[in-house]
Amino acid sequence: MTSVLYDAIGELVTCDRAVGDGSPLGLLHDAAVVIEDGRVAWLGRSGDAPATDDRVELGGRCVIPGFVDSHTHLVFAGQRSAEFAARMAGEPYAAGGIRTTVAATRTATDSELRTLLDARVAETRRQGTTTLEIKSGYGLRVEDEIRLLRLAREVTDETTFLGAHVVPEEYRHDPESYVGLVAGEMLEACAPHARWIDVFVEDGAFDADAARVILEAGRRHDLGLRVHANQLGPGPGVQLACELGAASADHCTHLTDHDVAAMSDSGTVATLVPGAEFSTRSPYADGRRLLDAGVTVALASDCNPGTSFTSSLPFVIALAVRECGLTPAEAVWSATAGGATALRRHDVGRITVGAHGHLTVLDAPDHVHLAYRPGVPLASVLAG
Ligand code: NIG
Ligand code: FE
Repeated sequence: MTSVLYDAIGELVTCDRAVGDGSPLGLLHDAAVVIEDGRVAWLGRSGDAPATDDRVELGGRCVIPGFVDSHTHLVFAGQRSAEFAARMAGEPYAAGGIRTTVAATRTATDSELRTLLDARVAETRRQGTTTLEIKSGYGLRVEDEIRLLRLAREVTDETTFLGAHVVPEEYRHDPESYVGLVAGEMLEACAPHARWIDVFVEDGAFDADAARVILEAGRRHDLGLRVHANQLGPGPGVQLACELGAASADHCTHLTDHDVAAMSDSGTVATLVPGAEFSTRSPYADGRRLLDAGVTVALASDCNPGTSFTSSLPFVIALAVRECGLTPAEAVWSATAGGATALRRHDVGRITVGAHGHLTVLDAPDHVHLAYRPGVPLASVLAG
């Protein structure tokens, strides 16, 4: 057994309201944490800590749970900077751009994709992320969706089958057959490599009927449900996610009062991805409205080459505070405990005894600095 004392923490964000100041962030000051064999073994006031094998001095810096990024598309080849530049010159975003990345990803070898994925995972860790969900969705053929999920599984257990990302070129004139493939043979082959299934419910992607068929088939294969919902305009995605008991509805940019009420009644988490709104120059999701209605809000990067090529949760936190109406405390909770809730995990996203010892340190005295100092590389993984 190896135990390490992380000592002289100026502000410890536990995300456990049972400790410290009783707020959702569960703040402790002048604190210490002991990690033993990868798990949190003790936390409390500096000076009260038990004896340990090693000691790391934090010099008054802030420690938070490692970020839980519950929505990413990290396995892909190529990039679409020209599409981004065109949008910034006035072009709208269209779901069909996904096919450009599908073409590049299909021609890449496993080893090329692994190298790209590993570099992206390392990039997330340099910014404080310790848990990642990763979707397939740039293969859209049975053998390619399997290999994207296998590659994702090499770096995380939180893998999501997204065969229903867009109808691929070769099925453009027969989308119903593609829905049958996704809900049938492709799902059968991919389910062993996935924990979740997701559908992009949107004009230009999949409608509610197709999404229902695919999500219900996924559920029969014991996959948990997630939905890309209400991103580009109002639509049925959020209602469907709530009705089917999805863990999370993601994007939630265009919501009716009915959608908000459904989320607050169902317990489906609203995962906001303001990096996508930034990169598509779209209106931001109204996080304040969701929180005021009692909805659980998560924040995620949606890292993908089309709409949100950022892996930075600190950037997402800053956007959520400035543009979605979250307070700095709410945003930090949503990027840690909120992401964990969206993945139905209790062992990450919080610094509590028994949880994984995933600690992120800020080169700052408190959590507010994440939004207060946007663009400054304050966060990095300390343990985990
Ligand atoms: O979450 N909305 C669907 N999927 C991605 C976009 C993917 C792409 O454009 O390549 C998203 O925004
Ligand atoms: Fe996405």
